[in-house]
Amino acid sequence: HAQDSPLCQKSALKDPSSDLPEMPPCDFIPDKYKGMSKERMMQIRKQNCNPMTMKVTSYKTPAFIHQGHMQWLWDVDGKRYLDLFAGVATVSVGHCHPRVTEAAVDQLKRLWHTTNIYAYPPIHEYTEKLASHLPDPLKVIYLTNSGSEANDLAMLMARLHTGNYDIITFRGSYHGGSPQTMGLTSNSAYKYPIANGLGCTNTMCPDVFRGPWGGSHCRDSPVQTIRDCGCAQGHCMANDQYIGQLKETFATSVPSRIAAFFAEPIQGVGGAVQYPKNYLKEAYKLVRERGGVCIADEVQTGFGRTGGHFWGFQSHDVLPDIVTMAKGIGNGFPMGAVVTTAEIAASFGKGVHFNTFGGNPVACAVGSSVLDVIKEDGTQENSLHVGTYLMTELAKLRDKYEIIGDVRGKGLMIGVEMVKDKASRDPLPPDAMNEIFEDVKDMGVLIGKGGVYGQTFRIKPPMCITMDDANFFIAVFNKSIHDFMERR
Ligand SMILES: Cc1ncc(COP(=O)(O)O)c(C=O)c1O
Repeated sequence: HAQDSPLCQKSALKDPSSDLPEMPPCDFIPDKYKGMSKERMMQIRKQNCNPMTMKVTSYKTPAFIHQGHMQWLWDVDGKRYLDLFAGVATVSVGHCHPRVTEAAVDQLKRLWHTTNIYAYPPIHEYTEKLASHLPDPLKVIYLTNSGSEANDLAMLMARLHTGNYDIITFRGSYHGGSPQTMGLTSNSAYKYPIANGLGCTNTMCPDVFRGPWGGSHCRDSPVQTIRDCGCAQGHCMANDQYIGQLKETFATSVPSRIAAFFAEPIQGVGGAVQYPKNYLKEAYKLVRERGGVCIADEVQTGFGRTGGHFWGFQSHDVLPDIVTMAKGIGNGFPMGAVVTTAEIAASFGKGVHFNTFGGNPVACAVGSSVLDVIKEDGTQENSLHVGTYLMTELAKLRDKYEIIGDVRGKGLMIGVEMVKDKASRDPLPPDAMNEIFEDVKDMGVLIGKGGVYGQTFRIKPPMCITMDDANFFIAVFNKSIHDFMERR
């Protein structure tokens, strides 16, 4: 083969021994990297980037990523990785998707920036198109630059609209890192010892795997937990218990009138945690009885990721009052949105809010193209198809290995919770998690980690991955767990 033909590209496997699974072929040829050395990058990272950048750097031997194409990433040495984390559930239709890139370039040549104090076509084309993807009466959109910003504004709108202040979220949730959303987020790793979270209360997360209640058919996923229950079909004792906990929160921790309840349809950073069927439906009713609005944080679950529906809330059979979105909305372009009803949106008009970049023309062109591509490429259907297969195969590994406690999710929003043993369901300790995580990377696959104790592997790839990619990952994951068990 020619030197840089696809078949000759270096795979990310550190050891070409025969028992290593073979990476599916890819006919894209990346540019040869000619930039600064890895050592120099690390030096600058340590000296000139805030230490937080180093703190969040994944892996003992970090990944130095140079280029991306669809589900593939190449590092500066030309090694190829299957990206199953998508820059934290963000690259929705594929790295540098050619049609989205073309839309961005077209817009960049015409108009990079002006603000919404002027009328320019892309913001109108985009907001109309995005609104068409939401059910009535969720038709009024405010564009932002990130998910935290979208959630900040959703908090503000909920408080202004209801005249109430208190907001409830689930323990283990992540809704952003801004000073306001830090209060919604319920994971101590993301909390700073500063005054935050005034008016924010966390309630028990109805986690049917790790929580005190849960059984063998509580959740909406192709894979159920390993826990047993004697509930009759259609009746879920776990749901009643968790709703009881929410009622306790109402009775003890907030005033009788509240502003909002925030929930992701499936927890993202929390580790793809799923609630019992009907939980959100009952919770929404209780929240509305107390004057609150219901907010669906679709930052990770939106744009077809859960496969069966375009929005995660749709599979809970609920209609939120506010929906927030980011990440997948722009396939990696920094943007977000708050979508709500005309009535709630009007509350925002009580003051003036200005946002220089929200609704930027390039962001709108990108967002619009992402919506087209999801439809044209059948991305949502692919999510359902490949995601369901992946979970079914992962469940077989769960049955094989004592340390794989749970496999769950919908579409390509998947969690694999690792445990010391199935009886205790105690989290697999961080050093063990890191060993497996590093090994999977060395074998050519990037995955994520999450959960309050960092115990859950997260699989949220660009939604263009194939069945061959799924099989490759299963082989890699199987080998990494097998090798880990052998070493112990
Ligand atoms: C569910 C959820 N909401 C909000 C956010 C915050 O988004 P951003 O990082 O764009 O501010 C995140 C980020 O991970 C998220 O996962």
